[in-house]
Amino acid sequence: MSTTTLNTDVSREIIASFFPEQDERTQVFGFLKNVVENYVADISTIKVNPTMSKADIAGIISRYDFDGSLPAASVLGDVISLMEQGMVHVTSPNYFGLFNPTSSFWGGIADFITALYNPQLAVWSHAPACVDIEEKLIRYLGQLAGFTPADVGGAFTTGGAEANCTALICALTRKIPGFAKQGLQAQPSQPVFYISADSHLAWLKIALQSGLGHDAVRLIAVDDNGKMDVAQLSATLADDRQRGFTPFMLVGTAGTTNAGVIDPLAQMAVVAKEHDLYFHVDAAWAGAILLSDSHSPLLRGIELADSITLDAHKWLTAPMGTGMFICADKTLLNQPFAVSTNYMPAGDDVNIDPYVNSMQWSRRFNGLKLFIPLAILGRAGFSKMIDYQVELGAYLKSSLARHDWVVVNATPLPVICFKDAGGVDTDQLLLQVLAANQVWLSSTTFNKEKALRTCITSYRSTRADVDNLLVQLNQARDAVRKAG
Ligand SMILES: Cc1ncc(COP(=O)(O)O)c(C=O)c1O
Repeated sequence: MSTTTLNTDVSREIIASFFPEQDERTQVFGFLKNVVENYVADISTIKVNPTMSKADIAGIISRYDFDGSLPAASVLGDVISLMEQGMVHVTSPNYFGLFNPTSSFWGGIADFITALYNPQLAVWSHAPACVDIEEKLIRYLGQLAGFTPADVGGAFTTGGAEANCTALICALTRKIPGFAKQGLQAQPSQPVFYISADSHLAWLKIALQSGLGHDAVRLIAVDDNGKMDVAQLSATLADDRQRGFTPFMLVGTAGTTNAGVIDPLAQMAVVAKEHDLYFHVDAAWAGAILLSDSHSPLLRGIELADSITLDAHKWLTAPMGTGMFICADKTLLNQPFAVSTNYMPAGDDVNIDPYVNSMQWSRRFNGLKLFIPLAILGRAGFSKMIDYQVELGAYLKSSLARHDWVVVNATPLPVICFKDAGGVDTDQLLLQVLAANQVWLSSTTFNKEKALRTCITSYRSTRADVDNLLVQLNQARDAVRKAG
């Protein structure tokens, strides 16, 4: 072994290379301050779509071979250029897209603090303050959903897909005796679960990951409003029972991804009870309205769920990687994730160790991205943002109607799907709008019809931005008509 590696100068150099000394830190913070100020100055006018081509991006990335060391200023400069020009700006007020809201300043600060201290939340004793903060948030949201606070359990997840997967594992463990030990062999007949045809199809991946396979997923038809057809559900359940399948879980979606529709949760809860099914509500996006006095009644029936998925990185403005699984009865989590090892710090009888109560092992302090903004803004601050966005959605709807667009979905929430009243092709319209690079929206299929899809997803969006969206849509329609 070389003794030079234990030289004090070398160790100092190692530390300073991974965590620069004060002068360099000051420079980096100065650079970062400029990045933030430029971002704030430009975000409303920046091109929403990437302006760098794949070749431009490759040109920059190819300069990096990682063999040598580079000045931080040039690396950070490249990264910011790539971010500014090489991505869709989901935090722009002109992004009327998928459920990717504008992250809050406070969420970003939380992300930085978390990375700085890098707490390990696998076991309570390693980060008691952090685990307790996350537990408090989960309990608070569970209480807003109508669960009994003392009984609420759950965990922060990387997102909605992981939270939904957690629900499936909990449902299998609770409803299929012997599942925790024997897995699917404990159940001779095929277990099946029920989601609407308009649910988020991460459920198919989850079915595969759990060993159930896609055939275990029953996609129940939706009615003309995009809600699960409960009569169809009951008929499918009866048929499955007769054919010897084992129904174990029913999932309601609160805020479908394509059209923002809320399933008839209260009615579905009755069916779940009748058939002894685990009832989960995927409220990844619309669960946010639990914070709004005016709109939370739209979620009636959620209080009857066994568990809920709620993504803070959707409508609650947290940076990516902030999902939640929330259950009404915390003992639900004891069995599915139980494991005991000698190398992990021993737990105690009072505090729950997250690694034996959730899917992850090592865990990041993702809850801080919700804790800091919620503490600073309060529920009222979030409610104001949500209520404003709902109102802006209603304004967009009425503006569309005035300009010969037909809204095809019916939801009070700010997801608006529409088509041209005169039958101009939706795909061509979308290409035309995106090519102008002033706004971002997508298309979807609703009620078997192709439609443009917009969602008021940024808290930066204003009435003027919605007016501009209309201008862009009308111009695109004129251009397609002229070309046709
Ligand atoms: C209703 C719904 N559930 C689940 C998900 C998956 O969430 P995530 O992408 O955070 O894993 C989404 C994503 O948009 C969604 O809209």
